[in-house]
Amino acid sequence: MKNCIYMLAPYNGTSGRQMMSFIITTDKEKVIVIDGGYRADAEPLLKKLREVTGREVPHVDGWILTHAHNDHIWAFCEIVENHRDEVTFDEVYYNFPSAQYCLRSDNDPAPLDFYHDLPLFADKVCIVSQGDRYRIGGIDFDILYTSDQSFYENSTNNSSTVFSFTFCGKKFIFLGDLGEEGGLKLLGEYGDALKSDYCQMAHHGQNGVTEEVYKAIDPQYCFYTAPLWLWNNDNGKGFDTHIWNTVKTRRWMEKLHVAESYNLCGGDVVIEL
Ligand SMILES: [Fe+2]
Repeated sequence: MKNCIYMLAPYNGTSGRQMMSFIITTDKEKVIVIDGGYRADAEPLLKKLREVTGREVPHVDGWILTHAHNDHIWAFCEIVENHRDEVTFDEVYYNFPSAQYCLRSDNDPAPLDFYHDLPLFADKVCIVSQGDRYRIGGIDFDILYTSDQSFYENSTNNSSTVFSFTFCGKKFIFLGDLGEEGGLKLLGEYGDALKSDYCQMAHHGQNGVTEEVYKAIDPQYCFYTAPLWLWNNDNGKGFDTHIWNTVKTRRWMEKLHVAESYNLCGGDVVIEL
């Protein structure tokens, strides 16, 4: 395998719903998965894992779940429920608050499914905390932020686990779907230490953290887990005509002179490092 990052597109193409699914492969034959998308994204994820590993039953060294929303963890639920013999994995890393907390600000059923499935993978669970460092697949992951249950607004998004790692000499930061409140806390605690080469843009690139957080991260490369309609804020009426703030975020990043922004408008993204 090569040192690669794969950002996977929705199962039903670039017009599909926003979701988040990443695979990291290393030249030491290690594999890390981050989130995975909706239930329907499980089979394409497994297919991609077979493809990149060349194994009929791929092995994942670490599976990181950012937060308990269906566009992030439902593929994992689907796999442990219905595809358990199609992939092996070591630890599953996450920090989810209770289902009651997750359901405070939305009705997403994903946390209920996740906790229902927990006996299927309980022996592999690693609950992460802010300040932890984990070596996964030969890469050191630093946990920068985990759920702060004093946030009542946007509760599940603000429970996103934020982490950074250095891979092939480049620093990456993953923000999950972190919201404004969590972003300000992150910025207050780390400031300019957030500086990274690659940034997974919070909440698919809109309505996530504030511009100040991105200024501190000051990335060269951005991952927008956004299909075409979200990338262009277009619900069928043209460019920047709907309610999402993706174009606003894109303008922030243009001011920071990012070298390249990756999105899901053209299908899966593969970055070889
Ligand atoms: Fe999301």
